[in-house]
Amino acid sequence: MSEPKKSLALPTGPERELQIYALGLGGGKPPVPVSLELLEQKAKEILSPRAYDYVAGGAGGEDTMRANREAFYRCRIVPRMLRDVAKRDLSVEVLGAQLPAPILLGPVGVQEIVHKGADVASARAAASLGLPFVLSTMSSRTIEEVAQEAGKVARSPRWFQLYWGKNPELTASMVQRAERAGYSALVVTLDTHLLGWRERDLHHGYLPFMQGQGLANYFSDPVFRGLLPQPPEQNPMAAIQLWGSLFSNPALTWKDIGFLRRHTRVPILLKGILHASDAALAVDAGVDGLIVSNHGGRQVDGGVGALDALPSVVREVNGRVPVLFDSGIRRGADVFKALALGAKAVLLGRTYMWGLAVAGEEGVRDVLLNLAADLGLTMALSGYTCCRELDASALCKSDLAERCDPRQF
Ligand SMILES: Cc1cc2nc3c(=O)[nH]c(=O)nc-3n(C[C@H](O)[C@H](O)[C@H](O)COP(=O)(O)O)c2cc1C
Repeated sequence: MSEPKKSLALPTGPERELQIYALGLGGGKPPVPVSLELLEQKAKEILSPRAYDYVAGGAGGEDTMRANREAFYRCRIVPRMLRDVAKRDLSVEVLGAQLPAPILLGPVGVQEIVHKGADVASARAAASLGLPFVLSTMSSRTIEEVAQEAGKVARSPRWFQLYWGKNPELTASMVQRAERAGYSALVVTLDTHLLGWRERDLHHGYLPFMQGQGLANYFSDPVFRGLLPQPPEQNPMAAIQLWGSLFSNPALTWKDIGFLRRHTRVPILLKGILHASDAALAVDAGVDGLIVSNHGGRQVDGGVGALDALPSVVREVNGRVPVLFDSGIRRGADVFKALALGAKAVLLGRTYMWGLAVAGEEGVRDVLLNLAADLGLTMALSGYTCCRELDASALCKSDLAERCDPRQF
């Protein structure tokens, strides 16, 4: 990969604490709430009910969302003492890129519904800290604009997330646009070949795409435009209908992965893997990485908590490709646990959306700085100085209340 090898150093905890306490001495308070609960509450006050629910909600009765958090709750850290943690380093290497912390901004579509800066603001915040930004197919700004705007801040990794639709020429076009614009990996989301049954959105009768939001990459695509009798600017309804007819492809199978390989040279990661057998099929298909994810509980209700699915996938993959993780990451301890169970790095979803809603680019930046500080302190206070030291021996299961045997996971 052509990404720069050097990475920026992120404050590992105490510096960030001091910054915030120093603000307090002058009577100030962090403009972006540090507590995730307060941050989400503030975002809720700012956003329209339907925009808030679109981000916050999940599939059906939201049992999978709860399972995501419960999996973290059951898994506990067992701190170690007297291990010289004076020097600490959060950096990790993922697909040849050196990241200052094991944190990526995951693909989140239609960000314009939470802040007008949308994907550009998020990508700029990520770039300012040297963290990778994964642009959604359903972004509010185009592949090219996000690359250009984030590139003005710093040259940090950008990946493109693909929703693989019914039209192969359109799929190939988007993949090639991303590659031309410097996105250095392709994240193929497998769990959204149909839209989950999202009760909050159904209650509001609200799907932003049907209002033309989150369709920037389609409306700007030459193949998509070529399929329309009139340009989207003249006849947006026809363009939205065409998008609806092409968006997803439930007929895809493992045989189709070869198509993507033929259309891109960048590494391919599959997002949405939860079953060890699928992990095996993915590795056999020759992909370069996996992301264990249940889409933040937005697709299948009653599903396995993503953290519960991580160990069996890691075991199956057995180091052949990197395994990344998302779904339910809120604080430093969550990142710690995912890494200890074998994830190379984690992706954020709603967590950075709330920062974006509250304060745009600065809000996302604050969320990232706080999460990195929280992770750095959690690691140091638990006796670890760098991410590669973490393994399942750092954890126990709370209901067993005994030291963890990695085979339990
Ligand atoms: C509002 C919203 C939009 C999302 N859009 C996409 C998307 O376009 N592509 C994708 O692969 N995942 C999408 N996701 C899923 C995230 O990438 C990620 O898997 C999920 O948010 C992780 O769960 P968490 O938010 O509970 O941490 C979206 C999530 C949210 C909350």
